[in-house]
Amino acid sequence: MNLIKPLKGLALKKKKESDPQEPEEQNGIVVKIADESCLPYVDTILKTIEDAAKIRGTGIARRSPEYIEMKINERKAIIALSGDEFAGFCYIESWGNKQFVANSGLIVVDKFRGHGLAKRIKKKAFDLSRFRYPDAKLFGLTTGLAVMKINSELGYKPVTFSELTDDESFWKGCQSCVNYDILQRTNRKHCLCTGMLYDPKWEKKKEK
Ligand SMILES: CC(C)(COP(=O)(O)OP(=O)(O)OC[C@H]1O[C@@H](n2cnc3c(N)ncnc32)[C@H](O)[C@@H]1OP(=O)(O)O)[C@@H](O)C(=O)NCCC(=O)NCCS
Repeated sequence: MNLIKPLKGLALKKKKESDPQEPEEQNGIVVKIADESCLPYVDTILKTIEDAAKIRGTGIARRSPEYIEMKINERKAIIALSGDEFAGFCYIESWGNKQFVANSGLIVVDKFRGHGLAKRIKKKAFDLSRFRYPDAKLFGLTTGLAVMKINSELGYKPVTFSELTDDESFWKGCQSCVNYDILQRTNRKHCLCTGMLYDPKWEKKKEK
């Protein structure tokens, strides 16, 4: 039974974007939009994210189980499964009156790392973001080299925070980060994360 409801959104315009509604499988790992059947994974997802943050010694924007459930119910989350085993996750959220979309909460379970799974999850999240919010700018904040590499490949560029959303509720998410004092001290101009942005207008310019 196909539990994925049709998504609202415009048709895909660019060749490099594939249909996000199609699950894709490689080496026995399926990457797909999460649906209700994935709700039992919520606790595992949150625990895996928290454990990874403790090991890295970095802060994270804390999410509640209800928030992740909402993302799954709204078809705004990507999950990777190896059979029934949880392998990875990421979700999308819109900010600033849907002018900006962030891909957040990226996690790959330790034993599945180093084989391009994060790349596949982020690509699907990118395609889903473009599909649901074709005119929005996509952005992310990260301290991680892996994410910087993946984002660059997808067409993101590093930018100063002034180019990102000024939506207060997005920046509130940084309050639970261990480095929040730096962000406050610099009036939200700088912190340890690098801001990265993808603007669909760049593609339009290239097409001209
Ligand atoms: C970061 C993370 C998602 C990467 O997952 P992964 O499946 O191993 O990543 P991939 O195999 O798709 O690698 C993508 C690229 O990043 C590189 N990379 C992966 N892990 C890396 C690391 N720890 N340091 C530097 N580069 C790394 C890979 O070599 C690859 O680069 P390439 O295209 O030049 O070959 C995973 O390590 C993780 O879940 N970490 C903890 C949570 C986290 O850091 N989340 C990101 C928050 S912003």
